[in-house]
Amino acid sequence: TRARIDALRRTHIAEYPDFPTPGVLFRDITPLLRDAAALREIIQHWKTLLPEGVEYIVGTEARGFVLGAPLAYEIGAGFIPVRKAGKLPGRPAALRYDLEYGSAEIEIPENSLPAGARTLLVDDLLATGGTAAATLELTRRFGVEVLGATFLLELAGLGGREQLPDVPLSAVWTIE
Ligand code: PRP
Ligand code: ADE
Repeated sequence: TRARIDALRRTHIAEYPDFPTPGVLFRDITPLLRDAAALREIIQHWKTLLPEGVEYIVGTEARGFVLGAPLAYEIGAGFIPVRKAGKLPGRPAALRYDLEYGSAEIEIPENSLPAGARTLLVDDLLATGGTAAATLELTRRFGVEVLGATFLLELAGLGGREQLPDVPLSAVWTIE
């Protein structure tokens, strides 16, 4: 039930003020990851929020890998890792973007997405939307059809949703 899912956020997402920099309230998903029953419950619920017909889940390093891979497995989709720069062999496509704190450069494996592929972006958390917007921009270079973007936790009020105006967006939990 909805109440049960909401309770899991309070018990399984830890909050750390002023990490990694002053003023940031860091949301830590590791309590959820280590509880087998809760993790299964969340993945099974999350599955029901996803669009039909997804061929590839695109997940962002590192927490988007941990959550994106089980979702891909569950819905029968492939998984595409979007990595921090310098980790991928060959000639990956790259893009620099801004975070809630700092900036980063991401890369996607060369030849990873066929033109027209139906993709879904997965990450643990939507904050400013910088990571998600950059990841979508990078995948769109391949000519894919983005079916949506989905997050474990949406931090409303940081403008993330506004950064992704052209994408159906869902989240297991949305909080202020
Ligand atoms: C965190 C989080 C998202 C992003 C959200 O990743 O996992 O990817 O920030 O912030 P934004 O909406 O403001 O862009 P981080 O770069 O800290 O990397 P990690 O997953 O490797 O810890
Ligand atoms: N990534 C960006 N903002 C974050 C936050 N407040 N908690 C955890 N991860 C984040």
